[in-house]
Amino acid sequence: MPKQIKGFSKLSKQAKIEWLVEQYFEGDDSKVDFLQSYWHDDAKVQRLHDEFIENTVSNFYMPFGVAPNFMINGKDYCIPFAIEESSVVAAAAKAASYWSARGGFKAEVLSTRKIGHVHFTWKADPQKIRTFFYEVKDKLLSGTEDLTSNMRARGGGIIDIELIDKTSEEPDYYQIKGIFETKDAMGANFINSILERFSSIWKEEAARSTIFTQSEKDDLMVIMCILSNFTPECVVRAEVSCPVEELYNGWNDLTADVFAEKFTQAVRIAEIEPYRATTHNKGIMNGIDAVVIATGNDFRAIEACAHAYAAKDGQYRSLTHCTVTDGQFRFWIEVPLSLGTVGGITSLHPMVKFSYGLLDNPDAKELMCIIAASGLAQNFGAIASLVTTGIQKGHMKMHLMNIMNQLEATQEEKVKIIEHFKTDTVSVSAVTELFKQLRGEVKKGN
Ligand code: MEV
Repeated sequence: MPKQIKGFSKLSKQAKIEWLVEQYFEGDDSKVDFLQSYWHDDAKVQRLHDEFIENTVSNFYMPFGVAPNFMINGKDYCIPFAIEESSVVAAAAKAASYWSARGGFKAEVLSTRKIGHVHFTWKADPQKIRTFFYEVKDKLLSGTEDLTSNMRARGGGIIDIELIDKTSEEPDYYQIKGIFETKDAMGANFINSILERFSSIWKEEAARSTIFTQSEKDDLMVIMCILSNFTPECVVRAEVSCPVEELYNGWNDLTADVFAEKFTQAVRIAEIEPYRATTHNKGIMNGIDAVVIATGNDFRAIEACAHAYAAKDGQYRSLTHCTVTDGQFRFWIEVPLSLGTVGGITSLHPMVKFSYGLLDNPDAKELMCIIAASGLAQNFGAIASLVTTGIQKGHMKMHLMNIMNQLEATQEEKVKIIEHFKTDTVSVSAVTELFKQLRGEVKKGN
């Protein structure tokens, strides 16, 4: 049976659900009830969620947890995390407390510039194109004043416009590169609107220009106008440091010296070995993405950019670095984070608004510092476990609840299982075994 449909997006929500259930669940009405059971009780709030995207039929829950005891630039934070992975919040909270007792996180925004391009091809004399660019550059600026006026009033706008000749890589390919400051907005709509205006001005002026022959004029083709999610000039740095002898506490009985040595070596491995760097950075992104989502930002953009940045010198490397010099341990992250605290869903999504309240309504720069610190904390927690107890001890302990829920253990059974695994190592098979014993399905010792 073909399951194609025309005009699906125009159906009412109810009709969409009915079609879905009819086509994919053999008309099973319980699936309608199931989808509805995830709707918000308040119809107004539900409508808000419905209207974030197209074809909404329900909500997809994600745990919203908090990691207290983050001290960043001397200020205390309780950071919101939206994430499904069991051990992430616990690891962040543990690292936060650990570093609060050692001066906390120091974070600074290094730069906040963003980039976008008009990509075009033009079979015309490159020297003429350069001359033409300098002739119209002012018009590109003045012709976008209506779009930039609000942003300029907030101290942002277009920083510069450059012509980039890419013909050595691709015949006849050039870019108009816009460099922007978007203050507290992530700025995607702002930048894209300006780029599209650049494109119109560029084409109109080219058609009017006396520099080019008619065939040159006819050849200009704007391919596309789009911001770049690679923002190597929108970067934040967060650091923790302390004397090596103050390092130890809590992970296991390694001496501070050995801990520092293993820790720095682990970071070094991630700097030079892409297989490890990918997992290492994935752990950092556990901390970053969760806060990016909780604060209503675009985690796909943040992810894409972080990985491009990690490979900026041609090899994929760690985003964090570590040194021990003159007995001082220093561990830091440098990461591009193009974030907004205004626009998008930041003032719409009720949980996102709650997150901003919890964080004391930071501006974009402060949010960059908070998120960099949570990525660094996450990475510290992961490496500290890896070089001491191993990752599975803590990870499986946190995963225990998922295993018990999969087995559909009762509250009473959960209490007994948790008690048992306070001392024993958690594994799916060990938990299943104990669960079966509790239910009398397997005899003890079998
Ligand atoms: C798991 O989600 C993340 C880690 O693998 C990160 C790491 O290995 O550094 C624990």
